Amino acid sequence: MTINDRDEEARAILRANDRGGYTVPNGRVYPFQWNWDSAFVALGFDTFDRNRAWQELETLLGAQWENGFLPHIVFWQDDPGYFPGPAVWGTGRTPVTSGITQPPVAATVVRKLWDSAEAAGDGGAYRPRLAALFPKLLAWHRWFRDFRDPEQRGVVVAMHPWETGRDNSPEWDAPGEPIDISNVGDYVRRDTSHLDAKMRPTKLEYDRYLALVQFGRATGWDHGRISRKNPFRVADIGMSMILLRANRDLAVLARVLGDESAAAELDDLIERAERGISWLWDDKTGTWCSRDLVTGRHSGFITSTSFLSFYAGLADPARDAATLAHFDRIGASVPYLMPSLDPADPGFQMIRYWRGPVWAVVNYMIGTGLTEAGETDRGERVRGDTRTLIERNGLYEAFSPVDGTGSGGDDFSWTSAIWLAWARQPRS
Ligand code: DGY
Repeated sequence: MTINDRDEEARAILRANDRGGYTVPNGRVYPFQWNWDSAFVALGFDTFDRNRAWQELETLLGAQWENGFLPHIVFWQDDPGYFPGPAVWGTGRTPVTSGITQPPVAATVVRKLWDSAEAAGDGGAYRPRLAALFPKLLAWHRWFRDFRDPEQRGVVVAMHPWETGRDNSPEWDAPGEPIDISNVGDYVRRDTSHLDAKMRPTKLEYDRYLALVQFGRATGWDHGRISRKNPFRVADIGMSMILLRANRDLAVLARVLGDESAAAELDDLIERAERGISWLWDDKTGTWCSRDLVTGRHSGFITSTSFLSFYAGLADPARDAATLAHFDRIGASVPYLMPSLDPADPGFQMIRYWRGPVWAVVNYMIGTGLTEAGETDRGERVRGDTRTLIERNGLYEAFSPVDGTGSGGDDFSWTSAIWLAWARQPRS
């Protein structure tokens, strides 16, 4: 298959997964609108249909709650092929949504869309759309400050592994142990009827996911109460880095729109995060990693999100050197970067979801961050590996870092988008 064929296939996947104003992550496994999937998908649409790119985010933000919360799933229409569906979440909203959020990449994507519209001379036409999205993004970022950072440390505390987008990362194993699963009851998973169970989270993990949904539901999705009492409260290194980056991009957009007071507010949030994120540096392992708010323990796991400090705009010579040493060691140990878990970890599994596989969207963030920070060779290694994985294997959900095998669905929207927007360029 040529590069041009792959381009055509990627565009065809985005069109096929378009449900009219929003895009499903793939045809069968994920039949609704997912928050961070949609943001990445917009980058792909922007390469051939600018209006549709903006519409993706406008639709997503159309499901925002009054308190600024932006859900991780919007159930614009029901579909029996997914569990847990709208009735299990029971948020009582129109449209029905889940009650948890997802990594806030949207503001960073909107900045990209805006820059691309401006560069094409379309700034005048898109400025009103930017002005309409901006307050919604700002409200969401304030929601993070108010409901996902209970100790006001400048980090993001996930209340559910699904919030992190990295559902079964081993970072959630120890913090998940105290979750009471005794009342979860019987349920039928749908993911394992579409996909090989070896690629998916275990039954114990699913029990914990559902127990947390039940907990949230029992509070009436009271985010204040959840932030104080939830049985799972883990400062996620991925979301923390992503929000820091997103606040920087939103501050730039505030200035584009001439909103100095919002820009100053965002500058304060950025400063707080720059100071506070040190709490997520683990000296013992020499890495950025998630940390349990309940016990105070660092996870100690080196994951793909440990390499997002460059994307977040953090610069600290000693920490950067330690991070890059891990990068080089992992880079020498597998042909394809960046595995979602360090292959040297005894729990590494090359096709089990977030315990090993490479994800194109995380690679996009790692690679662009490294390149922006002047680490162009390493940035290009990540991009080139993403390109090879997709070129040789297809537009899968994720890929084995060991032999490139695709896992999950083979018609993945965000992989298609990242191919079109970033990975496809020849190796430099
Ligand atoms: C799933 O159902 O696997 C999703 O990742 C939850 O968001």
